[in-house]
Amino acid sequence: MGASTYWRIFLTYLLLATCGAKYIQAPALPGAQPISEADRVYTADQTSNTVTVIKPLTNQVLGTIALGESRITDQLNPQYLGVVNSHGLGFSLDGKYLSHVSVTTNTLTVIRTLNNSIVSQTSVGRASHEAFFAHDSRTVWVACRGTNFVDVVDGIEGIVQDQIKTDPGPSKVLFSPDGKTAYVNHIKSPTLSIIDVATRRVVDTIEGLADVFSSDMMISADGLRLWVAHKMVGNTTVIDLETRQIVTVLETGKETNHPMFAIINGTTYGFVTVAALNETKVYRQDTPSSIPVFVKSIPASGIEPHGIWVSPDNSRIYSVNEHSDTLDVVDASSLSVVSTLNVGQESQAVVYVAGAVPSSAVAPATGTENLGQQGLGKRVENRLINVTNSTRATALITVRELNGLDMFQIIGRTLDINTTYVATAVCNGCNGARLRILSFNATMPMPGDLGCAVAPQVLSFLPFFANYNVDSIALGKA
Ligand SMILES: *[C@@H]1O[C@H](CO)[C@@H](O)[C@H](O)[C@H]1NC(C)=O
Ligand SMILES: *[C@@H]1O[C@H](CO)[C@@H](O)[C@H](O)[C@H]1NC(C)=O
Ligand SMILES: *[C@@H]1O[C@H](CO)[C@@H](O)[C@H](O)[C@H]1NC(C)=O
Ligand SMILES: *[C@@H]1O[C@H](CO)[C@@H](O)[C@H](O)[C@H]1NC(C)=O
Ligand SMILES: *[C@@H]1O[C@H](CO)[C@@H](O)[C@H](O)[C@H]1NC(C)=O
Ligand SMILES: *[C@@H]1O[C@H](CO)[C@@H](O)[C@H](O)[C@H]1NC(C)=O
Ligand SMILES: *[C@@H]1O[C@H](CO)[C@@H](O)[C@H](O)[C@H]1NC(C)=O
Ligand SMILES: *[C@@H]1O[C@H](CO)[C@@H](O)[C@H](O)[C@H]1NC(C)=O
Repeated sequence: MGASTYWRIFLTYLLLATCGAKYIQAPALPGAQPISEADRVYTADQTSNTVTVIKPLTNQVLGTIALGESRITDQLNPQYLGVVNSHGLGFSLDGKYLSHVSVTTNTLTVIRTLNNSIVSQTSVGRASHEAFFAHDSRTVWVACRGTNFVDVVDGIEGIVQDQIKTDPGPSKVLFSPDGKTAYVNHIKSPTLSIIDVATRRVVDTIEGLADVFSSDMMISADGLRLWVAHKMVGNTTVIDLETRQIVTVLETGKETNHPMFAIINGTTYGFVTVAALNETKVYRQDTPSSIPVFVKSIPASGIEPHGIWVSPDNSRIYSVNEHSDTLDVVDASSLSVVSTLNVGQESQAVVYVAGAVPSSAVAPATGTENLGQQGLGKRVENRLINVTNSTRATALITVRELNGLDMFQIIGRTLDINTTYVATAVCNGCNGARLRILSFNATMPMPGDLGCAVAPQVLSFLPFFANYNVDSIALGKA
C-alpha cells in the first residue's frame, strides 16, 4: 500500500468520524463501498418472532432481537402485550434504522441498528405487510394489506401522520433512488400505484399486471426497472419505469416469492426466489425495456427460498430458506451458494444495511447489544411426500421444534378441490399404530385448473418429535 493510499484511508475515516458515515445502500450501482465490518444483514423470522442479526463480513450470526414470545408460547394469553408474526423489513438510507412489520398484531417497529434497541412501536392498519423508510430517514410508509391504505408513520415518535389511499390490498412500498416517487403493489388489484412523495397522492397507475395478487416487488439500482412477483400464479411482471410500460410477464414458477437485482460485470441481472422449486432464477436484462433472458437457476441449500437482498458492492446475494431456517450466501460472480448460516425460525424477508454500526476503526462498537438466542438452534425437518392414492398431489410437511409444542405445517399442492384430507403419523411405542395429526379441506383453487386446489399453510401445534416418527408422515383423503 502506497503512502497516498494510507492518506486516502485516513481521510475517509476522518470524514466518516466527523461528518457521519456516507454509506451507499443496496441495490447500488457499481462503485459502492465493499462489504465492511459496519454492515449488517437482517432476517425477519415469523415463527420465532425475531429479527436475526448477521455480520456479512464474516458471515456470522450475532444473535436475535426478540420482538415478543415465539409461537405460540403465551401469545394467546389475554395479558400478552407483545407483537406477533415477524414479517416485513426495510431500512433508512442513513443505515441508522430498521423498519419491521408484525403482520398479526399490525405493528410497525423501528429498531436502532447501532445497539438493536427499539425506538418506537406503532399500531398501523389491518394486515400491514411491508414498509420502507422514505428518504428523510424518518417517515416510514407502511402497506396495509387488509385496507386500501398506505400509512405514513413518524418512525421516531411512533405516530401515524397520514394515510394515502391506493387500490385494494396494498402490499409493499418502494421508493425511487431520488426519493421523489413511491411505488405500491397490491394483493387485490392487478395494478401498481405511483405516488408523488411530496404531495402524498397517487399520480399514476400501471394497470394489467399478471395477477391481482402481488406480495413482493423490487426496484433496480438505476430506478428504471421494477419486477413485481405474483406468488399465487407463479409469474413475475417486468415493468420499465422510464416508459411506465409492462415489458413482459415471466413464468418464474410456483410460489414465486421475492425479486432482487444485481449488476454483475456491468450487466443488470434480475433474481427471483421460487419457493416450490427450491431455487433462485437468474435473468439477464440488458436495458429496462428488453425482455429478460433466463441465465440459470441457483439451487438453494434448503427449502422454500423467500426473501433476497444484495450487498452494495454487488458481490454477494443473500437468500433466506423459509422452511429450513437458513440463509444462503450466493457469490454473484459464480452465481452459486458459497455459505449457509442457521438463522431464526421461518424467515420471510431479508435486508442488507450498510453502515448499521460504527466501524471499529472509528469507534469500538460491537453492535451485539440487546441480542439474545431466541429461535436459534432449533430442530426443523422437511418431507416432500406424495399424497396417498393420488398420481399428482404432493405435500411439503415441515415440523419445527418450539417451546413445549412443535409446529406441524402442510403445504398441499395439486389437491382435489373441496376435498377433506387427513395427515397421519406412526406413534412411537404404539406398535406401528397410525394416529391422526390434523385434517383440512383444500379450498383454494389453482389458477387455470378448476379441479385442483392448493392448501398454502395448514398449521397444527402438538408435541410431535417426542411422540411420532417424522419419516412416517402420510397425507390422504379422509
Ligand atoms: C441505544 O443507543 C441509543 C443511542 O445511543 C441510546 O439512547 C439507548 O439508550 C441505547 N439503548 C439500549 C437499550 O441500549
Ligand atoms: C404466466 O406467464 C406466462 C408467460 O407470459 C403465460 O403464458 C401464462 O399464462 C401466465 N400464467 C398465469 C397463470 O397468468
Ligand atoms: C425442492 O425442490 C426440488 C425441485 O422441485 C425438488 O426436487 C425437491 O424434492 C424439493 N425438496 C423438498 C423437500 O421439497
Ligand atoms: C463475471 O466475470 C468474471 C471474470 O471474467 C467471470 O469469472 C464470471 O463468470 C462473470 N460472472 C457473470 C455472472 O457473468
Ligand atoms: C412420488 O412419486 C414419484 C412418481 O410419481 C416418485 O418418483 C417419487 O419418488 C415419489 N416420492 C416419494 C417421496 O415417495
Ligand atoms: C368449492 O366450494 C366452494 C364453496 O362452497 C364453491 O363456491 C366452489 O364452486 C366449489 N368448487 C368446485 C370446483 O366445486
Ligand atoms: C371440510 O368440509 C366438510 C364439508 O363441508 C366439513 O364437514 C368439515 O368440517 C370440513 N373440515 C375441516 C377440517 O374444515
Ligand atoms: C388408498 O387406496 C386403497 C385401495 O383402494 C384403500 O384401501 C386405502 O384406504 C386408500 N387410502 C387412502 C388414504 O386414501
